[in-house]
Amino acid sequence: MTKVNSSENINFKLPEMSDGQFQLFSELIYSLCGINLLPKKKMMLVSRLYRRLRALNIIDFNDYYNFLLTSDGRRDEIINMIDAVSTNKTQFFREPEHFAYLTAKVLPEFIERGYANKNKTLNVWSAGCSTGEEPYSIAISLSEFCQKNKLECGFKITGTDISTRVLETASRAVYREDVLTPVPKELLKKYFHKSDGMDKDEYTIVPELKKHVSIRRVNLMDSDFKLGALMDIIFCRNVIIYFDKQTQINLFHKFYSTLNRAGFLFIGNSESLHNISNEFTFLAPTVYKKEE
Ligand SMILES: C[S@@+](CC[C@H](N)C(=O)[O-])C[C@H]1O[C@@H](n2cnc3c(N)ncnc32)[C@H](O)[C@@H]1O
Repeated sequence: MTKVNSSENINFKLPEMSDGQFQLFSELIYSLCGINLLPKKKMMLVSRLYRRLRALNIIDFNDYYNFLLTSDGRRDEIINMIDAVSTNKTQFFREPEHFAYLTAKVLPEFIERGYANKNKTLNVWSAGCSTGEEPYSIAISLSEFCQKNKLECGFKITGTDISTRVLETASRAVYREDVLTPVPKELLKKYFHKSDGMDKDEYTIVPELKKHVSIRRVNLMDSDFKLGALMDIIFCRNVIIYFDKQTQINLFHKFYSTLNRAGFLFIGNSESLHNISNEFTFLAPTVYKKEE
């Protein structure tokens, strides 16, 4: 493998990626995590993988690709490559109409079905949860709903992602002040602690909320998600945009099997199940339900 020593790093140039190499990387990435990189994404791929080349002191993409196929590469580097190529943009209460729908329509239905009982757990899955803003926003919404309606509810939110880097942030549950702008002031006060350490502009999710959220790695390409229970609600928002049609078809079929009867599915505002799945009932744009 061609390596450079650290003093040469200073003059490290962005390496070339041929169309053939792009094809090899995109096939590998597609087979590992379903992310479908179109040719127009080549420059994005070059700049993201360049960070990995630098970290490993490898100077060209051929050597990096061959390293990924070795047993050391498969064990240590594939995860880093997936971390580098995944797009993790997220936000607290992103697409707020979903949280309004959850509180106005979905949760009252579960209460009618006997879920206002701390011995019965409402299972919610945030699939592709990135750095955790989505599962914690769901947890806040559920907690607020139960308190406002004076209900004793048991709920568990499972946040999963393929990228270990974002999962570390989600598990840590510490967020900078600027990331928290979409959180209403009264909820910030109630569900976050201001850090008393060095980073004064950091806030941690309070333990009473955090205990409802568990974070783990799940690759949505796996045939068995190993979640341990059927879900009542699945949020999978702004994830399938990176998958091709066949991958989306397979994924929604698996989501259908992962949901309890009469369970709900939320997808991202720019996404649709049109021509992808006819198993779910359409309730509102981007909100679906499994049959009763
Ligand atoms: C743009 S973020 C969306 C985050 C959040 N759901 C939201 O809407 O704000 C997409 C996430 O999907 C994850 N992802 C992509 N492919 C995946 C796969 N095969 N399995 C699990 N997660 C995946 C990425 O790592 C990324 O964190």
